[in-house]
Amino acid sequence: MNIKGSIALVTGANRGLGRALVSALLDGGAAKVYAAARDEKTLAVRDSRVVPLTLDTTKPEQIVAAVKKASDVTLLINNAGVSTSYKVLTMTPAELAADFRTNVQGTLDVIKAFVPMLERGRTGGTIVNVLSLSSLVSVPTFGGYAASKAAAYSITQALRPALRPKHIDVLAVLAGPIDTDMIKDFPLPKTSAADVAKGVLAGIARGDEEIFPDPMAEQMGALWSKSPKELERAFSSF
Ligand SMILES: NC(=O)c1ccc[n+]([C@@H]2O[C@H](COP(=O)([O-])OP(=O)(O)OC[C@H]3O[C@@H](n4cnc5c(N)ncnc54)[C@H](OP(=O)(O)O)[C@@H]3O)[C@@H](O)[C@H]2O)c1
Repeated sequence: MNIKGSIALVTGANRGLGRALVSALLDGGAAKVYAAARDEKTLAVRDSRVVPLTLDTTKPEQIVAAVKKASDVTLLINNAGVSTSYKVLTMTPAELAADFRTNVQGTLDVIKAFVPMLERGRTGGTIVNVLSLSSLVSVPTFGGYAASKAAAYSITQALRPALRPKHIDVLAVLAGPIDTDMIKDFPLPKTSAADVAKGVLAGIARGDEEIFPDPMAEQMGALWSKSPKELERAFSSF
């Protein structure tokens, strides 16, 4: 889809990748960007095309209100996410449930609420789910988070044929490590949020169903296409 002239909504737009996506959308010529955050006061990008929106993706009443306010969206970017559960053997049930609540259920609830509106648009729409390489491969250190991102990828795949007849495309962003708060304590090679955002928008413009927006994601994505088993072996040392 064309970013120029699009009307986008980004969840979790106040920091990290979400904030970078808002800036990249404005640079790419988006007509309007709904910047959604749990707390509107934390939104930092100021531009006449930015419309602040309060949205906690785990709060059904806020989702309903967001659909009413953002009734002209053509590009929905589900970026909001958490990483609460870490080690597969020691995480608690509550930590795992928290990751599933936001990363899977919250994302799906937002999509379901926006589908009738996207469907009414004459040219259809695009839904982009910000997932992770850990949707494709897991490691002991973030086994819980990875399980939630794998489930979100599974939902993404299920939505594609369900929404194709409604002219709605569903794209998955399978990002590598990004330099944001989420993994600030992990000493990994990381790509800046600004560069990842550019990669995401380039993938949306091409209409890639799987977007690998950074160099590590591109490399690991190529390995996954060749052999998921080889990708699993490559990750086993993390
Ligand atoms: N960082 C990485 O290495 C990496 C790699 C691959 C994919 N990702 C994915 O990229 C996305 C953005 O993550 P990030 O790296 O930018 O992390 P981040 O800096 O921790 O930011 C997370 C964002 O999500 C918002 N959020 C969390 N729960 C929410 C909820 N229930 N409702 C609405 N907003 C919520 C946060 O809002 P508050 O400020 O209110 O907490 C914040 O804006 C996530 O989906 C993450 O899984 C990250």
